Amino acid sequence: MFTLKSGTRIQEIGFGSYKVTDELTDGRSYQVIRDALAVGYRYIDTAAFYQNEDVIGQAVRDSGIRRGELYLATKVWKTELSYEKTRKSIESSLRKLQTEYLDLLMIHWPKEFPGDPGWKEKVRESWRAMEDAKAEGLVRDLGLSNFLPHHIMALQETMREEPVLDQLELHIGHMQYPAVLYCKEQGILVQAWSPLGRTRMFGHPALREMAVRYGVGVSDLALRFLLQQGIAVIPKASSTAHMETNLHPAEFTISDEDMSFLLCMPSVGWAGEHPDFDREAVDNRFLLK
Ligand SMILES: NC(=O)c1ccc[n+]([C@@H]2O[C@H](COP(=O)([O-])OP(=O)(O)OC[C@H]3O[C@@H](n4cnc5c(N)ncnc54)[C@H](OP(=O)(O)O)[C@@H]3O)[C@@H](O)[C@H]2O)c1
Repeated sequence: MFTLKSGTRIQEIGFGSYKVTDELTDGRSYQVIRDALAVGYRYIDTAAFYQNEDVIGQAVRDSGIRRGELYLATKVWKTELSYEKTRKSIESSLRKLQTEYLDLLMIHWPKEFPGDPGWKEKVRESWRAMEDAKAEGLVRDLGLSNFLPHHIMALQETMREEPVLDQLELHIGHMQYPAVLYCKEQGILVQAWSPLGRTRMFGHPALREMAVRYGVGVSDLALRFLLQQGIAVIPKASSTAHMETNLHPAEFTISDEDMSFLLCMPSVGWAGEHPDFDREAVDNRFLLK
């Protein structure tokens, strides 16, 4: 368990639900959530953008698991960054998830689009709506997602409630270290999205060799690498075999030397999204022209 600065204790390993429930009517998406709950996940990460809050709400209800045993984390999408729109987004999430409160509410991205000149005012207004929702008991904790230090600083100028968590793309080959360090300094828990890098780096010879040396799978290595740094993870899986492996990654310690090796690897497996830049602008070939 990790402890948030609010005092709430959360599970180190949650279930990532992006794209498990693309088709709201396919029945299988519903089953994936039921499977994850049956395997033992109690922390579910979702977002208004994933369009699966209603499926999750139904699966949770049908599972019979008491609400107090579950941790439901969701996010306000970047087009909803205003006081009124954020209040509506919260109402919608509560209704779809069939719950009276959200354990954690995050702002999904700090900017509606990379060059948005009004982004600071928008996130501050959204945050104010989230603070009011918290005061009303609709939300237990407030968090961020894809916020880099300068985005957090902009919020810190006006906020009444501090963010307890920042969810960032973090995995072997993409560590966004300045953001990790800033969060740690501020007491903000860091949580990794795509902790397995969507398996993009699983074939990397150096990782395969290291996993063999420790006698573990590459997924164990990827998750242990983050957990060992005090970073929470939310791997996504469709198969129950993957769900089980990820909820109980092999218990082993990566040596300091190997940690350094992994932290210093060249970039690999980045999903390609950055809050401040369009995709083309972060393409190395473009920068070198
Ligand atoms: N805040 C944000 O902006 C943001 C963005 C993206 C994602 N997220 C959150 O983070 C969660 C996780 O990220 P992600 O879904 O992008 O990627 P991920 O968890 O890094 O990778 C998921 C992929 O890995 C496979 N997999 C899972 N466990 C495995 C294992 N033990 N061995 C081999 N393959 C395995 C899955 O396959 P199967 O499905 O076939 O099992 C799936 O293809 C999302 O679901 C979402 O909740 C947040």
